Amino acid sequence: MYYIYWLFGLGILGFFVGKFIKHKSLYPFMPFKHDFRKRRSTFLKTLELLDKINADIIIETGTSREGLHGAKSNGAATIVFGKWAKLNKAFLHSVDISENSVANAQKEVTKQRLDDYVKIHLSDSIIFLQNFDKKVDFLYLDSYDYSSNIEVQKKQ
Ligand SMILES: C[S@@+](CC[C@H](N)C(=O)[O-])C[C@H]1O[C@@H](n2cnc3c(N)ncnc32)[C@H](O)[C@@H]1O
Repeated sequence: MYYIYWLFGLGILGFFVGKFIKHKSLYPFMPFKHDFRKRRSTFLKTLELLDKINADIIIETGTSREGLHGAKSNGAATIVFGKWAKLNKAFLHSVDISENSVANAQKEVTKQRLDDYVKIHLSDSIIFLQNFDKKVDFLYLDSYDYSSNIEVQKKQ
């Protein structure tokens, strides 16, 4: 009988060890609980690059419409870059054409206390970039998105 308990215990232990090994967090930069999956390696490279160029102004087109919940899918770059900006006294401008995306991203930015380092703009990214008159150190183009709202895409 004890044998069955042991097997069960080992199974549970194996499950958690497996989860730990496969986990793709950006810890210690972000809390361990946020799993960035396949984007972990590209985020690490990007953070390395931001450090190297000592970026001052970052622009992201297409904001984190799912907040940090999008870590596993879209990537949650607004929060990752915003956090980097906060730690490095830089500034992130994130622009999105959708009111919904802007509202959701803004909620997460405020929740993460990044308001002094991140501004979310409601605009077509092309118009925003055409009118942006400061030097840009890092430009992250992530607004090529045609899956949900066809009308939004027609405006591009
Ligand atoms: C994939 S999501 C961006 C994900 C985000 N960069 C992140 O890492 O979490 C794409 C976003 O682009 C926005 N978008 C689509 N067309 C756009 C345009 N012409 N100008 C600005 N944003 C646009 C959509 O509303 C959507 O919120």
